[in-house]
Amino acid sequence: MVGTDVLSGMPLFEGLASGALVALSNALQKRRYPKGDVIFHQDDPGSTMYIIIEGVVKIVVTSPDGKQHTLAILSRGAFFGEMSLLDAQPRSADAVALETCQLLTLGREQFVDFLRAQPEAALKLFAALCCRLRHADQLVQDAVFLDVPGRLARTILDLAESQGETESGGIAISPRFSQVEMAEMVGATRESINKWLGLYARMGLLRYEHGRITVLRPDKLRERIC
Ligand code: CMP
Repeated sequence: MVGTDVLSGMPLFEGLASGALVALSNALQKRRYPKGDVIFHQDDPGSTMYIIIEGVVKIVVTSPDGKQHTLAILSRGAFFGEMSLLDAQPRSADAVALETCQLLTLGREQFVDFLRAQPEAALKLFAALCCRLRHADQLVQDAVFLDVPGRLARTILDLAESQGETESGGIAISPRFSQVEMAEMVGATRESINKWLGLYARMGLLRYEHGRITVLRPDKLRERIC
């Protein structure tokens, strides 16, 4: 069983009455996925949604010729896998554990019952989906209007906001990302990511050491988005 204190600290369940938290904690299962595990594949049928208690998950789509594009990096408190439950369509993307993950799972029936019983939580879910749609719109806009250095700057600033921790001298992004993983987020080749990460590092905008990005000058990096 999952502690109600863990649930009440999650944005989706914030403010729920204690009875509702207890009912929810009875319906949730805890599951552990080692680093690198595929939680589910694009086009699989889906009957479960997931909430992250610990770890980082990437949401990724694959083209028919095997190219991958990362749509989102999700961490503690985020949820995924809700779309197949709501529209009864297959999974829209792969979900992969980037680090060892502790996840909570909720079946379709319990998810729908929960939303019916908790309209405030349903509104929070809608707001989170709107936020996701806005981000997706931004990515489409960037794909059309920005070049690789602009898109790289945007991706790094987004990661700094969602995954960054302020430490002396900069914002350190966790987990580490290889250049291939960065290329899959930006929509570029590994070679051009290597070139632009190197240039941004030489300009003093960031540090990139063994996959660890530390943003040193977010203001200057933002100026590259134009
Ligand atoms: P589902 O389609 O069930 O399985 C894949 C999941 O990835 C999907 O539900 C969403 O939870 C999540 N997902 C799909 N697209 C995005 C996106 N653009 N940003 C964040 N998460 C997404």
